[in-house]
Amino acid sequence: QAPADGSEKYIMVIGGLGYIGSHTTLELLREGHNVIVVDNLSNSYKTVLKNVRMLAAHHCKVNNVPMPRLRFFRIDYRSKAMHVLLERYSKPVMTVDATSGRQVVSYQSQIAGVIHFAAYKSVVESIQQPLRYYRNNVCGLVNLLQELERFNIRNFIFSSSATVYGSKANAGLPLKEEDLVHHQVKTQNEAGETTIVEPTIEGLSCPYARTKYFGEAILADVAEADADWRIVALRYFNPVGCDPSGVLGESPRGEPTNLFPVLTQVLKGDRPELSVFGSDWPTRDGTAIRDFIHVLDVARGHIAALNWNTKKGNGFSTFNLGSGTGTTVLEAVRSLEQAAGREIPLALVDRRPGDVGSCVASTDRAAKELGWTTRESITKCAADLWNYVSKVSLRS
Ligand code: NAD
Ligand code: WQD
Repeated sequence: QAPADGSEKYIMVIGGLGYIGSHTTLELLREGHNVIVVDNLSNSYKTVLKNVRMLAAHHCKVNNVPMPRLRFFRIDYRSKAMHVLLERYSKPVMTVDATSGRQVVSYQSQIAGVIHFAAYKSVVESIQQPLRYYRNNVCGLVNLLQELERFNIRNFIFSSSATVYGSKANAGLPLKEEDLVHHQVKTQNEAGETTIVEPTIEGLSCPYARTKYFGEAILADVAEADADWRIVALRYFNPVGCDPSGVLGESPRGEPTNLFPVLTQVLKGDRPELSVFGSDWPTRDGTAIRDFIHVLDVARGHIAALNWNTKKGNGFSTFNLGSGTGTTVLEAVRSLEQAAGREIPLALVDRRPGDVGSCVASTDRAAKELGWTTRESITKCAADLWNYVSKVSLRS
């Protein structure tokens, strides 16, 4: 690695040691970006950094390319330390204000873009501790945007979620980005009839879902007020799987509630069975339908958003990151059974409060504008996850 001379550009990844953040950091390094990771390890472990570095170094060696820089800061992104960090990677530039004639300081940052993953994400916890969720996911975001403005960093990618569609998913149709808007949208047809779509947060079943909706709405307002911002909100559907190496996976602190992490526990013998929430949904086998998407495809979606060369200029844009294919809970279980070569014990129980029966992405906008579609199938997700689980069992 050449010594740093203060001119290198970085992508800052906040929450970069978490499940999606770590896979995206790895993909950024594989694509040759220097990365600054910020994470307070509230839901991740420092060992993830070592694994990301090792996988990236292996990729660079095999492809005979230099290893980009990877810096890690164990920081709560809401703390003062974040200001100090941003200042460290920025150069002050003195300019004269045209109207007042006064000298003002502006900044040129080495941070070319920020990808913001850091948030709390448990639906159940958000109902029990709403203020903790609003503080991290919403107040934190507002303060972060203000800091970024101060340092002239206006290229921002936000982790949103299919959860923002709420009960709209129940219609059973692929969810389109325009199904959810933050500002009133008026359209007129050829006959001069006006249709008005009002912003709505109806049908968002928990505080977590509302934090993501409010996050998007704040970003839409910020981009509307200042045309220099380029903000992309990526609405992930159900990210699963892991890097095929089996070295990097999903290793949260605390009790998981999502389907694949729970299935992982059953496979490892940490849980006796999977409780299937609801077998009376109007679907082909009675269990709920989700759009499972390989986490590496999600990671690639972030690279596509960074590289996106929109002709429309800056502003606020939303994209679904989904496969467009619906898989039932039982089909997902079967794919993991096949990968593991053994049966997974099940108990059919009542529906989980707040769940929707079906949630599948329309993929048109991301395909057309970002040139991004998923590459991997649910079978590959299951195979990679099983590879990770079996390697973890071998290690322990
Ligand atoms: P994760 O919990 O694995 O990762 C989040 C990371 O952020 C963790 O490493 C955590 O330690 C860190 N973090 C949290 N608060 C922080 C703070 N105040 N300061 C610094 N670091 C902090 O979650 P994930 O599954 O990787 O999700 C990433 C993002 O994507 C989240 O915003 C989540 O809401 C969103 N999302 C996730 C899913 C999913 O199914 N995993 C689906 C849709 C959207
Ligand atoms: C998938 C299906 C469950 C566990 C949630 C959030 C969403 C997003 C992803 C962040 C459902 C069923 C699950 C179990 C089960 N996160 N299931 N037994 O509910 O689609 O979305 O996580 O943004 O916002 O709402 O994902 O993985 O929890 O559930 O039967 O032990 O699996 O009922 O039908 P979900 P999930």
